[in-house]
Amino acid sequence: MAGRVAVVGSSHVDFTILLDKMPKVGETVVGKGFRVSPGGKGANQAVAAARLGAEVHMVSRVGRDAFGKLLLDNFRINGVRTNHVFEDPEAHTGVAFILVDSAGRNMIAVAPGVDLHVSKEDVEKASEAIRGADVVLLQLEIPLETVAYTVEKAWKQSVPVVLTPAPAQPIPESVLSKVSVLTPNEVEAEMLTGVKVQSLRDATVAGRKLLEKGVGSVVLTLGDKGALLVDEEGEFHVPALPVKPVDTTGAGDCFSGALGVALAEGLNMKKAVVFANTAAGLSTTKTGAQEGMPTRKEVEHVLKSKAT
Ligand code: RIB
Repeated sequence: MAGRVAVVGSSHVDFTILLDKMPKVGETVVGKGFRVSPGGKGANQAVAAARLGAEVHMVSRVGRDAFGKLLLDNFRINGVRTNHVFEDPEAHTGVAFILVDSAGRNMIAVAPGVDLHVSKEDVEKASEAIRGADVVLLQLEIPLETVAYTVEKAWKQSVPVVLTPAPAQPIPESVLSKVSVLTPNEVEAEMLTGVKVQSLRDATVAGRKLLEKGVGSVVLTLGDKGALLVDEEGEFHVPALPVKPVDTTGAGDCFSGALGVALAEGLNMKKAVVFANTAAGLSTTKTGAQEGMPTRKEVEHVLKSKAT
């Protein structure tokens, strides 16, 4: 049976320019390509989870504008349930301006618009979807107050929460202590612990500090160093998939979406991290946050070829 995943978070339209190298402050560089595509950390996680076979309910807001329509259509095309994606006439749909260099690395600036209106009331309206979920996925592009409310609500109903602490910002321990799995990258881990993460050893130290704050398990996403699970049982490192990245935008979101799917299906943490790491690696081989999200078949093909 398909796992049930509820995602509470942002939905954006991404404007991406592909470049040979990033500009410096004050410099103009000429790009080699441009695309407009669906994005937003919440929506990216939702689409990743849906492509991997989960029943996905999205809780989000879009503006009453052409971009909002594009995002609603895109959710539907990808099989994401949109009953709780609310149209908001008070601001614009969230947008992101993204630069991607020839190594697939990115720089992102977000204008959140209606993301900032995603509220406790929106979450209340989605009570049934949250209660009925096997896993709830959250990120930090909506108000922290709404994130905290959702964590508390899911915790009271014993629904595990996977929180991607991006964009990096401080999170109260009262919230962290109710999070089942936290998935920071190096920058986010440093913001939350003060530990500069440059090696697997640093990642372990940061992960342990987060466990001390009450998080159930920590999975650090480490780019070309793969992923590190830190929990009560110890550490478990999974190397990055050996691929040549074209665009890493949304790879972290793909990781969390896939992790949510695996946990919703009852996989243990180690197997879930291997599954998520494979999906995230594959997602970097195509451009666009959501266009790059792999299908279940693609992920299983890689997992099978590694097993033989
Ligand atoms: O994580 C990638 C996402 O961050 C992009 O899709 C962009 O919209 C920003 O939210």
